[in-house]
Amino acid sequence: MIWQTNPPLKKLLEVRNLNFSYKKDLVLKNINFTLYKGDFFAITGPNGGGKSTLIKLILGILEPKSGTVFLDEEIKNPVEIGYVPQNTNINPEFPISVLDVVMMGNGSKHKTLKSFFKIGYSKFEIECAKSSLEKVGMQGFLHSKISELSGGQRQRVMIARAICSHPKLLILDEPTSNIDINGQKEIYSLLKKLNQEITVLVVTHDLTVISQYANRVLYINQEGFMHDLKEGGFKIDNEGHFCEVELMQMLGEKK
Ligand SMILES: Nc1ncnc2c1ncn2[C@@H]1O[C@H](COP(=O)(O)OP(=O)(O)OP(=O)(O)O)[C@@H](O)[C@H]1O
Ligand SMILES: [Mg+2]
Repeated sequence: MIWQTNPPLKKLLEVRNLNFSYKKDLVLKNINFTLYKGDFFAITGPNGGGKSTLIKLILGILEPKSGTVFLDEEIKNPVEIGYVPQNTNINPEFPISVLDVVMMGNGSKHKTLKSFFKIGYSKFEIECAKSSLEKVGMQGFLHSKISELSGGQRQRVMIARAICSHPKLLILDEPTSNIDINGQKEIYSLLKKLNQEITVLVVTHDLTVISQYANRVLYINQEGFMHDLKEGGFKIDNEGHFCEVELMQMLGEKK
């Protein structure tokens, strides 16, 4: 009999001994973690802990003071990483359509002369936008004005924008911060569905998300604490509830 073994995990991203400061004091201190292909990876921690800064270092928007951010070949090209930044609340009155917003995420891979010279979109581009909107359940809104959408719908459009260039990694920085409980659930089940094809890295303060969806979590408060949730990192009582304070303390402890 041949023993079946799980295929080896593929590293997509590896951060080693990373230090960063905007001014004199370090904002991130000796951060180490690995993101594997297929992960639903959560980053959590207090306000000002350095989460968004770490995302910007991964994206190459900021340069490390020391240490390395290794990106696998699969995500070396910027269009291979989809990004939904924190606070994307574009002015809802801004007179652009859903199609315009999604096309902003259309990476160079699919850019045509037409869109380069801003004379409308090609049939191919419109099909591409439609397919992204379909993935987020917003296919009926292609020509709607952004101002006509709810906050949750607008955030779905931002996700469609981020997946328009078929990225291998999707990074979202607090994607549900202004969205009600139901809208949050919808966004996270959408991310879970997208995770079947795309590796997801999400910054969140939502512990339910971490416990239900993530397989790995990095707690950052200047320093980083890595937890592999498949090893059972949660203290959940008999009714399935967990104490938020305890959990945050636990995540902030080195394993
Ligand atoms: N452009 C900047 N210049 C100087 N300091 C900055 C800059 N951006 C962030 N900081 C500082 O770096 C630290 C980490 O900020 P960062 O935005 O990464 O935190 P965060 O974990 O994302 O917080 P939040 O949960 O509030 O989004 C904070 O002390 C912040 O004041
Ligand atoms: Mg932030």
